[in-house]
Amino acid sequence: MNRKNRKRRTAIVTGASSGIGLGMTRALLERGYRVVATSRTISGSKNLKASRNLVLVDGDISKKDTAIKVADATIRHFGRIDLLVNNAGIYMPKPFTEYTPEDFEVMIATNIAGHFFVTQQAVAQMRKQKSGHIVGISTVVADQPLAGAPIALPVITKSTIPAFSRELAMEFAVEGIRANTISPGVVDTPMHANDDHEKLRMLSPARRLVQVSEIVDALLYLESAPTVNGENIRIDGGAHAGAKW
Ligand SMILES: NC(=O)c1ccc[n+]([C@@H]2O[C@H](COP(=O)([O-])OP(=O)(O)OC[C@H]3O[C@@H](n4cnc5c(N)ncnc54)[C@H](OP(=O)(O)O)[C@@H]3O)[C@@H](O)[C@H]2O)c1
Repeated sequence: MNRKNRKRRTAIVTGASSGIGLGMTRALLERGYRVVATSRTISGSKNLKASRNLVLVDGDISKKDTAIKVADATIRHFGRIDLLVNNAGIYMPKPFTEYTPEDFEVMIATNIAGHFFVTQQAVAQMRKQKSGHIVGISTVVADQPLAGAPIALPVITKSTIPAFSRELAMEFAVEGIRANTISPGVVDTPMHANDDHEKLRMLSPARRLVQVSEIVDALLYLESAPTVNGENIRIDGGAHAGAKW
């Protein structure tokens, strides 16, 4: 690693093969970051090509082995970890009484363990550097559940993320490590490719879906704001602010 490289920021983005994670990876690369992008299938991505500044690592992020592989690749290629975006996540709407033990396990694994193990790896490196930033992606329905939207498991799993960020913020602020959350409303990504977009639009007081670029803007803001720590930015057209619109 030469001196010039040391000044450039290095990010890990999980769930980078699609939607929000893909948009973040592209935006960070455009801004001169070195990025390690990971998901189960990312090496086969048509949208991202490995390069000098982009390393692709395949793996199930709920597994500790994947977390270690991702962190090791980041240190090996770029020497440091400045930003971890815990973005990988799955959504499973279902009437509450129909969730199976398998549903429960995969949701807990992906949406909670998928943040936990890779964050442990990143924080260990950030403590050596005495700096770093962790951003978790939650969802606004963790604050504002909706009648008619049966999403107990997404709510249970995603509501842990702002609390996790606040805890990390407190535990590590003194060591120069920040942790923040972004909570989107409904974002126009492949996650909702087969859903009724007209219905989804009505879930926002703004009557429109959030664009990936708007989530990216929140990430870039958090990156530019060194005293913002333990924050949860809601990008939802105001849905969290009221119950009826
Ligand atoms: N879209 C929305 O309306 C919305 C709203 C609120 C919050 N969010 C949150 O935003 C995040 C991104 O969502 P999105 O809309 O961009 O979804 P998406 O387009 O479906 O992308 C999800 C990403 O997560 C990866 N992934 C899923 N399971 C994984 C696992 N076990 N291990 C590693 N990677 C895994 C997928 O890649 P592979 O299939 O290659 O593994 C993909 O890259 C999620 O956490 C989601 O809960 C989304």
